[in-house]
Parts: sequence; C-alpha cells; structure tokens
Amino acid sequence: MRRTKDCLIIAIDGPVGAGKSTAARLLAKRLGYRYVDSGAMYRALSWKALQAGLDLNDEQCLRRLADETSIALEPADDRELILVDGQEVSRQIREREVEQASSKVSIHPSVRSVMVAHQRRMAAQGGVVMDGRDIGTVVFPDADVKFYLTARLEVRARRRHLEIQAAGATRGVDELAEEIKARDARDMGRRASPLRKADEAVTIDTSDSSLSQVVDAMEEEIRRKLAAAQGFT
Ligand code: DC
Repeated sequence: MRRTKDCLIIAIDGPVGAGKSTAARLLAKRLGYRYVDSGAMYRALSWKALQAGLDLNDEQCLRRLADETSIALEPADDRELILVDGQEVSRQIREREVEQASSKVSIHPSVRSVMVAHQRRMAAQGGVVMDGRDIGTVVFPDADVKFYLTARLEVRARRRHLEIQAAGATRGVDELAEEIKARDARDMGRRASPLRKADEAVTIDTSDSSLSQVVDAMEEEIRRKLAAAQGFT
C-alpha cells in the first residue's frame, strides 16, 4: 500500500448484477471518497454513437468519437449526473438499447484506451472508489485494495428484474438471466481487457448478504490492509 488513508484507490470489478455500483457508492460515501462508475462512461459514449447512427463494429470511427467526446461524472445527492458534451444523459444511458450497445462498443481496444486514460486522470489525486470490469487488472493494477464482487446468476437476474420494475418496465426473470449470460460471455470472452478477477482481489459473493454487510466487509478489508502496511499486524 503506497498511499495514505485519505487518498487510496479502491478497485471493484465483477459481472453485471453483482451489486458493484450500489456497494461502491456506499463505500465511497463512508470513506468520504469520490465514486467513479466506469460503466457509465462506456454507456455515455455508446449513447452518443447510437444518436449519431454509427456502426458499432467500426472501431476507427468509435475511437475518433471517443477522442472528441467530453464525458463528465458529477456527484449529485445520492446519485451521479452523467454528462456528454455538457448534456445530461443519466437516464438515457440506462436504457436497454444503450446497455446492449455498450457491451459492443467496449470490445474495441482503442476505444478502451481512451476511456482508461480518462479514468486514470479522474483518480490522479486518489481518494477514489471505481467500479467496472478491468479496474483492478488494467486501469489500476497498483490499486491499494481490489475487490471482485459476484453473485449467483438467479440472484443477479432477480436484482435486474427489480431494477427494471422500479423504472416502470417489466421483463421476465428467465429472459433477464439469458441476457446476463450473454453479457457475461462478451465481457469475459473479449480479447481486450476481459473481465477477470485480479490475482490480489478479495472475492465477495453478495448473493446472500445485505448491502451493509457487503460494505462492512469491504471496510474491514481496507482497515486490515492499512494496518498491515503500517506494520501493526
Ligand atoms: O457496468 P455497466 O453495465 O454499466 O457497463 C456497461 C458496459 O460497459 C458493459 O457491457 C461492460 C462495459 N464495461 C467495460 O467493458 N469496462 C468497464 N470498466 C466498465 C464497463
């Protein structure tokens, strides 16, 4: 651990529906850190690509788009505002079409390198909790503490079901489970920065735990690492 208590970098990776963003947001709040949702950045770029009617398989074109697009994440009450070239798109990027597109756009290595550079700039001062698929493996291989969150497929599908219901739509749990499986396969099977657990990451299965239990376990691990680094254990 090279950083001090106030400016650690905490990396959280894991598949869709593992509870990463909810846990990361609460952990950041408890630590007084900034939360960065890296998935929202891929979604934001994909939203713009869809608006422009771009071919999601055209890497060069998407790379150019990434270069010329400003993506900003601004803290606001209990959520973050996502801005693309100054326009607020927090709601739009959660739509199904954008979700599907982001899973394709994030396959391209050169698009990822633009995003990774942006993510590193956002955490330059430390004091950040960032979640995604490649945070502990690629974006911050030297993160102070790394977590890998996971949960059983049926639990993840049920969580998505509730999220979608809360947004006023309905989709069957079985259909969602199939969709999650397909996204897992894409995230874990792609050539560039596939989702995998970093060697030093602590795995937390969130299937049977409450949010506060998960975040308590994370805080405990951070305290343990800090104490070990200071030679107390
Ligand atoms: O976490 P999410 O569902 O908001 O992510 C949207 C998409 O972006 C998802 O298909 C995986 C991809 N992603 C990625 O490739 N790397 C990250 N660090 C974060 C998300």
